Amino acid sequence: MAETTILGLESSCDDTAAAIVRRAADGTGAIVSNIVLRQDDLHASFGGIVPEIAARAHAEKIDLAVEAALERAGLGLRDCDAIAVTAGPGLIGGVLAGVMCAKGLSAAAGLPLIGVNHLAGHALTPRLTDGLAFPYLMLLVSGGHCQFLRVEAADRFVRLGGTIDDAPGEAFDKVARLLALPQPGGPSVEAEAAAGTETIRLPRPLLDRPGCDMSFSGLKTAVLRARDAAVATHGGLPRGVRRDLCASFQAAVRDVLTEKSRRALALSGDVTAFAVAGGVAANGTLRAALEAVAKEAGCPFVAPPPDLCTDNAAMIAWAGAERLAAGQVDDLTLAARPRWPL
Ligand code: KG4
Ligand code: ZN
Repeated sequence: MAETTILGLESSCDDTAAAIVRRAADGTGAIVSNIVLRQDDLHASFGGIVPEIAARAHAEKIDLAVEAALERAGLGLRDCDAIAVTAGPGLIGGVLAGVMCAKGLSAAAGLPLIGVNHLAGHALTPRLTDGLAFPYLMLLVSGGHCQFLRVEAADRFVRLGGTIDDAPGEAFDKVARLLALPQPGGPSVEAEAAAGTETIRLPRPLLDRPGCDMSFSGLKTAVLRARDAAVATHGGLPRGVRRDLCASFQAAVRDVLTEKSRRALALSGDVTAFAVAGGVAANGTLRAALEAVAKEAGCPFVAPPPDLCTDNAAMIAWAGAERLAAGQVDDLTLAARPRWPL
């Protein structure tokens, strides 16, 4: 297929994003512009994302993000070949804001509309950043998801295992709340952990069970108990204990992810690489540990840059480009889906 230029929109959680991506005739990708408008300030005082506030902010800002992405790229809407948009899974008000905007743009400019699964966006990112060939093993680890996938084609994902309860990102966010650290919890827990030591004993759930299923909800409860014990002993939470709790929690997540990755690599058969994506894959300690597992197995390791691990629209534009290349487009009946397994 000839070179294509795709406008992508993402609004399924708390980032309002638009991006332009080019897919060359040889199948390689390049990011032309990538705009992410964050909502952290709007949700800060609530200690978590408020879906109604998120949806309103997306509806207000999505066209600004699109304008900025086009302007940064020096392009007009009609220079694009298609419009790709996250059609799920996610917070439905936000997904709707993106889908409605994309439908309007598509109808106005007469461009094909492509609905993208947000998880496929994360899982295909290593093809955009590193030109990774199929099949590869992907650990998709974010705020709402945690699964091992054998990525066999742009629309074929075989699930090898995953969390049976919470996602690690959710656990990072909860631990941050328990320790009065700012949201999103991942970066703040990682920063505290860097100054702490792994001295507090916490469980490594499901490590004694075969396969690559995981569990993280018990770990949150264990952090809560350890915090309460420290508060009872010290009459408050000393800074050093908070840091050690962060380091110990992060180490427990690391140990579970690395051991389960070893097993997933053993199960995945022939793959070109072990790749990670999703917000939690932005964590430096976890990336280094997962890289070591790949090395041990003699498998190349691919981790997109941190800003392409967390939510963005470049991954949606790219997944749209892959669908367009396969001749898969949608029409104005495209539905927004709160749930949409890969
Ligand atoms: O992929 P993402 O941006 O949104 C979802 O699709 O969920 O992931 C967001 C999640 C949040 O839970 C956030 O705390 C976590 O990724 N996260 C991190 C880091 N940066 C973001 N977790 C651990 N360490 C980080 N550096
Ligand atoms: Zn995401």
